Amino acid sequence: MSKLGVFDVSVRYGKVPALTDVTLHLEEGERVFISGPNGAGKSSLLGAISGAVATSHGRIEMDGDLLTGRSPEAIARLGLSMVPEGREIFGSLSVDENLRVGTGLRRDRNAVEGDIAEIYDAFPILGERRNASAGALSGGQQQMLAIGRALMTNPKLMMVDEPSLGLAPKIVDQVYDTLVQLQEDRGLTLLIVEQSSTRAARVGGRMILLRSGSVVGDGNAADFAETDLLSEAYFGKSNQEVAQ
Ligand SMILES: Nc1ncnc2c1ncn2[C@@H]1O[C@H](COP(=O)(O)OP(=O)(O)O)[C@@H](O)[C@H]1O
Ligand SMILES: [Mg+2]
Repeated sequence: MSKLGVFDVSVRYGKVPALTDVTLHLEEGERVFISGPNGAGKSSLLGAISGAVATSHGRIEMDGDLLTGRSPEAIARLGLSMVPEGREIFGSLSVDENLRVGTGLRRDRNAVEGDIAEIYDAFPILGERRNASAGALSGGQQQMLAIGRALMTNPKLMMVDEPSLGLAPKIVDQVYDTLVQLQEDRGLTLLIVEQSSTRAARVGGRMILLRSGSVVGDGNAADFAETDLLSEAYFGKSNQEVAQ
């Protein structure tokens, strides 16, 4: 049984199809990148899996449990967590308060403190700035906070939507180093939206390519990066960069 199974899933917004009959499987502990141009349906796919976006067809399973039709909260309780595109942290709340959002209903109060201590252990900078307002953090620190918050539910499967967005390459390196480390430490299965196949190849893993709501490729990220380099060469983009 795979960790995550997406079977013939379609999503539409009114008459606009965003995903059409998407099928994919993730094995436990795998790191899989979802790539593809803007509007390809990457965020819709993550939304469908997390329960935030309704599907019009197909079914989604985690560990053999049907996710389709469940609320995002129920899906989170099964061990799935999502770091949304744009991070969606609360800028006027402190770092610490951001980590506690959503823990108010938990009955295991003592475990909450332990979980927060673990996050500060994994991200020392967040611990140092625990009382700072989240809006005052750098973009990279805000991404770390968004990841830290997603870890608060102790997920087994974590989805991250475009962690690189708006960050300098060196900071992106740090974010991915952290994700890879967390995966090793916690045995996480990771599904990451990443537009750059060269970046995905550098981090390493499998890559699924979406275009216009359909899966058009599935393989080793390194192989896609080579293809991209070829097409760049074909269209002369690399030559323009050299000329600048
Ligand atoms: N809330 C929405 N309402 C209507 N159309 C949407 C909505 N969200 C996304 N879309 C459309 O669905 C398609 C897929 O979008 P999205 O999943 O955000 O793609 P990606 O994340 O790959 O950029 C696009 O055509 C987009 O305009
Ligand atoms: Mg998106």
